[in-house]
Amino acid sequence: MQIEVSNLEKSYQNKKLITPVLRGVDFSIEAGEFVSIVGPSGSGKTTLLYVLGGLEDYQKGSVKMFNKELSTYTENEKSLLRSRSVGFVFQSYNLIPNLNVLDNVMLASVIGKQKTKAEIMALLKRVDMAEFADRYPSQLSGGQQQRVAIARSLVNDPDIIFADEPTGNLDEKTSHQILTLFKSLHLDLATTIIMVTHNEALTRYGTRLLSMRDGKVIKDEKLD
Ligand SMILES: Nc1ncnc2c1ncn2[C@@H]1O[C@H](COP(=O)(O)OP(=O)(O)OP(=O)(O)O)[C@@H](O)[C@H]1O
Ligand SMILES: [Mg+2]
Repeated sequence: MQIEVSNLEKSYQNKKLITPVLRGVDFSIEAGEFVSIVGPSGSGKTTLLYVLGGLEDYQKGSVKMFNKELSTYTENEKSLLRSRSVGFVFQSYNLIPNLNVLDNVMLASVIGKQKTKAEIMALLKRVDMAEFADRYPSQLSGGQQQRVAIARSLVNDPDIIFADEPTGNLDEKTSHQILTLFKSLHLDLATTIIMVTHNEALTRYGTRLLSMRDGKVIKDEKLD
């Protein structure tokens, strides 16, 4: 198993106030699965992705990433996990406005796995954005910006891509185009995709559907 979560509990503490957010989450994910996560606002979807990606700590239960308990990762191992093994795609594309498309992806490669310009261009080609390499984010549509953000997430040749409402700012047609791209990454590169979405229609691109409610996974379905 690539990811094994059992009895995971996490709460946020602000001053005296403790908010339980994950209340006993259990599931496992094998390499190469394409998992959609759905659930009401506040059910803990984003928090779960952040815990799996090593961006947030947890208090109870077990989270094994690549067969090693996350709480035993050293800071260095966690930073390697983030910069080598996983990629993140967010609802807001988070591109740097004063860098062109090529340099936005190149910058990620400076921090993560080193890539040549030709390799970066190949990534842009993969997301169908090579012809826009010289453009700045403000000169791109939302869907195009998200394609660049996906290319950026691919810089480290990640085993897993976490996508948190990647189509939340996009229209229906563009959303389906982005999901077609994720599906092709899943099929061609065998990348594990874990995507949170509020759009039920998009879950059919995946191989599995997890439904969350009140900090728990209440349904886990295989899709074909
Ligand atoms: N840094 C934080 N400090 C305190 N509480 C937080 C923090 N981040 C999230 N929460 C709380 O944790 C709960 C779950 O939040 P989370 O962002 O994981 O939900 P979500 O399922 O992603 O919701 P949405 O669909 O609206 O994005 C919410 O009640 C939220 O208020
Ligand atoms: Mg969220």
